[in-house]
Amino acid sequence: PVFVLNGPNLNLLGTREPEIYGTTTLADIEALCRQTADTLGVSIVFEQTNHEGALVELIHQAGEKGSAIVINPAAYTHTSIALLDAIKGVDVPAIEVHLSQPVAREAFRAVSYVSLAAAGTISGLGARGYELGIRAAVQLAQARAK
Ligand code: DQA
Repeated sequence: PVFVLNGPNLNLLGTREPEIYGTTTLADIEALCRQTADTLGVSIVFEQTNHEGALVELIHQAGEKGSAIVINPAAYTHTSIALLDAIKGVDVPAIEVHLSQPVAREAFRAVSYVSLAAAGTISGLGARGYELGIRAAVQLAQARAK
């Protein structure tokens, strides 16, 4: 499976700062991801957690059982060397996704530790970024399997 991982506060999507994140809920995003996976003939594991260490463990699981990672690390994007090291430490490609365009926001969002380990980043396209992220992740996984 492709592991689709979501970080802190993304459980609040729908009502959280709708002027930035829109009104799409995390359940809507999960449905879109499942639809995309069905179209591509792959399975997904979809998880959200507010805890940094839990994300580290999910990345480890993806390394053991998954073919690729699509991750929206949310605020941990900008702070977490632990997530960076976890992604570096597993042998599966990771695509970083953001609903908003972090570099166009506050200066502290311009830094992404996760980008140092991600194969690519999709940001600013809302929920559609997850669909594109899954497509990219599946292509990378398939290219590696050849
Ligand atoms: C986010 C952007 C981050 O800067 C922020 O902390 C989030 C969401 C996004 O999807 O746009 O929580 O990752």
